[in-house]
Amino acid sequence: MNKTLTIVSALAVTGLAAGAIALYAGAIDVAADKPHAPLTYRLLEFARERSIAVRARDIEPPVDLATPERVRRGSGNYDAMCVGCHLSPGAEDSEIRKGLYPTPPRLADKPAAALDPQFAQARRFWIIKHGIKASGMPAWSKGGMEDEAIWDLVAFIQQLPGLTTADYRALVASSEGHSHGGLDEHHEGHEHDDDDDHHEHSEQAGRHDDEPASAHAGKKQGHTHPPGFKHQH
Ligand code: HEC
Repeated sequence: MNKTLTIVSALAVTGLAAGAIALYAGAIDVAADKPHAPLTYRLLEFARERSIAVRARDIEPPVDLATPERVRRGSGNYDAMCVGCHLSPGAEDSEIRKGLYPTPPRLADKPAAALDPQFAQARRFWIIKHGIKASGMPAWSKGGMEDEAIWDLVAFIQQLPGLTTADYRALVASSEGHSHGGLDEHHEGHEHDDDDDHHEHSEQAGRHDDEPASAHAGKKQGHTHPPGFKHQH
């Protein structure tokens, strides 16, 4: 018995040492342009979905989630903050999306997995609120987005796969653009009255002009690339 224990301990220590040496030697490639091995990807995906499922299971979507008002409000924030990574109907792929790993899903496409509808909403709410580590998906609550504004986004994303480019533009045009207020306290632009801090927003991926109805899906951005870049806008 004692001998078995000694062997098991020795193996465990050897395993840990081998792991430490591999880490120190830089064996794990963190480059975003080098995909994981398929098995590693599957494992990480499994861990991500279990992590979210456990944390989102008690979240209850509001009963008025499908109302046009929520969808309309959500469209303005989506267009201001999400399109760079998640695109809009008919939009060309973006530079940032091409470079991110994992690739942000095109939210205008029908989701691959058929989840229970209520859980699917809770899951999206959780992801938008808390973000996903080391993936590029931000925790929007940290930037000051209130729960009600997050539900508006969930309401909009629910409708997004059914929208044409024209529907999308019309909806964004009818929204107030970029706002994070709750249902009763809607603010234009960047105002927040819930605390004294001035929240800086970092729309890492999209434009940041607060103009509603930009209808900029797939539109040329106002920048050019220096010589040596593979494409021009
Ligand atoms: C800088 C890029 C980036 C921006 C900006 C961004 N996201 Fe994401 N998002 C991601 C990435 C990457 C993932 C995938 C993460 C993963 O698979 O681990 C993701 C995943 C998601 C998912 C989960 C999709 C699914 O069903 O699996 C939702 C929902 C989502 N984002 C919503 C939003 C919303 C709403 C906004 C704007 C408020 C936004 N994202 C802005 C990068 C971004």
